Amino acid sequence: MLAIIGGSGMTSLTTLAQASRRPVPTPWGEPSAALSFGRIGGQPVVFLARHGDQHSIPPHQVNYRANVWALAQSAPIGIVAVAAVGGIRGDLEPGDLVIPDQIIDYTWGRASTFHEGPDSSVRHVDFTEPYDRALRARLRDAALAIGARVSDSAVYAATQGPRLESAAEINRLERDGADVVGMTGMPEAALARELGVPYAAITVVANHAAGRAGSRQEISLEAIHTVLAASMKQVQAVIERMLRGDD
Ligand code: HPA
Repeated sequence: MLAIIGGSGMTSLTTLAQASRRPVPTPWGEPSAALSFGRIGGQPVVFLARHGDQHSIPPHQVNYRANVWALAQSAPIGIVAVAAVGGIRGDLEPGDLVIPDQIIDYTWGRASTFHEGPDSSVRHVDFTEPYDRALRARLRDAALAIGARVSDSAVYAATQGPRLESAAEINRLERDGADVVGMTGMPEAALARELGVPYAAITVVANHAAGRAGSRQEISLEAIHTVLAASMKQVQAVIERMLRGDD
């Protein structure tokens, strides 16, 4: 079973065959939506819409613990997280796919561990390589196989949102070494690591990050939606290719 978390622009998977929906309660509360179980390319898949079925839950209010916990109940071989990002690095264009290999966490106030509270002992996990190498390679190979423009080496900056960044904030993220910026990468990746579930992200560059398309040019939300509508179809094709294999 492969678990997929869909982000902005992907509240469902049109490629998911024979799907059945099941609510999965957790000790951490309700996940963002019922889980959809089905098949893609003949392989079992469970899908969850990160922001809810109606895209109503903003990034800082997503119950990441419930989401990751619920998916982990199916003992998946891995979690593929799909997300929209802003492109900081100069070569990234809207519509490009990016499979990050590193992450920097700028979020705050989010419940970010399963190990807290009076009945829990402190636990630290290694996070040197936040994304699973093998799962990233499978995503990259599938993306290349369908002819997508893809970058598989990038640092993802996780910001709090829901607002977009200022141009100065983007300059700071770049100085820190970030290539793309999004609002949902953390604590999702760390929670998957705590549960020992391999986790990788495939992100879509929805827009040039603030200030990167010209210093005074505002980011058009309409343009973002247009890019995501097309590119999320491509992400679905990548996932299908990955699950179908090379046939
Ligand atoms: N910043 C943060 N998150 C995003 C962006 C952005 O520019 N675009 C899509 N998600």
